[in-house]
Amino acid sequence: MHKVQNQKGHLETLPGPAGDRHDLHPVCPGADHPHGPGKDRPVRLRPPLRRTKDLRHILWLDGEIFADDDPVDVWDPSVLWWAAGDLAFCGVRPLSCGTSAFLLRAGVVEEARGRGLQRRMIQTRLLWAKTQERIQTVITYTIPENPWSSNNLIRCGFRLYEPQERWAGEAVNYFQKKIR
Ligand SMILES: CC(C)(COP(=O)(O)OP(=O)(O)OC[C@H]1O[C@@H](n2cnc3c(N)ncnc32)[C@H](O)[C@@H]1OP(=O)(O)O)[C@@H](O)C(=O)NCCC(=O)NCCS
Repeated sequence: MHKVQNQKGHLETLPGPAGDRHDLHPVCPGADHPHGPGKDRPVRLRPPLRRTKDLRHILWLDGEIFADDDPVDVWDPSVLWWAAGDLAFCGVRPLSCGTSAFLLRAGVVEEARGRGLQRRMIQTRLLWAKTQERIQTVITYTIPENPWSSNNLIRCGFRLYEPQERWAGEAVNYFQKKIR
């Protein structure tokens, strides 16, 4: 099992390779299943983060992972956030139409990449969306330079689609998944 030093200098366990049943215990939200989540199983859902302290943590993770981009607006009250310890974070925004939700920024620190965290964070947000009665479709987009995200979305049941208006630009791939 891999360990990395977190922001506070403590050792944190990384998710293990495929098949490691203990992989997500210490780091993922809701990873308290008695047998640990298996590969490709969603982590158990906990409520998204709300406290100022937690939102500051998201902001810190965002700065670590997306250093070259504008910081994400963690204070936007319409966005719900989840974090996997000091390793990863993701957000979702229910859209004003009420029937769709948008998966927005998700990031995994470099040392923890390639171990399934993004896929689990997609599944966590899908589970959340399924708890929202009105939400029928979950949408998102990826840039062509990021095949990992596209493949993960496809693995989680998303399909490419053409929106009526290409609201995030011409050069991106749009994905959607109907959840009911
Ligand atoms: C894109 C990103 C979120 C993927 O997160 P992740 O937790 O590493 O993704 P997963 O482990 O769920 O899946 C990664 C897949 O890509 C593969 N992969 C290949 N090269 C890789 C690399 N350099 N880094 C990560 N994954 C890689 C992995 O093997 C895995 O495939 P597999 O399941 O067939 O083995 C992460 O790399 C990242 O945060 N990148 C920078 C920020 C970003 O681009 N965010 C997404 C847009 S908002």
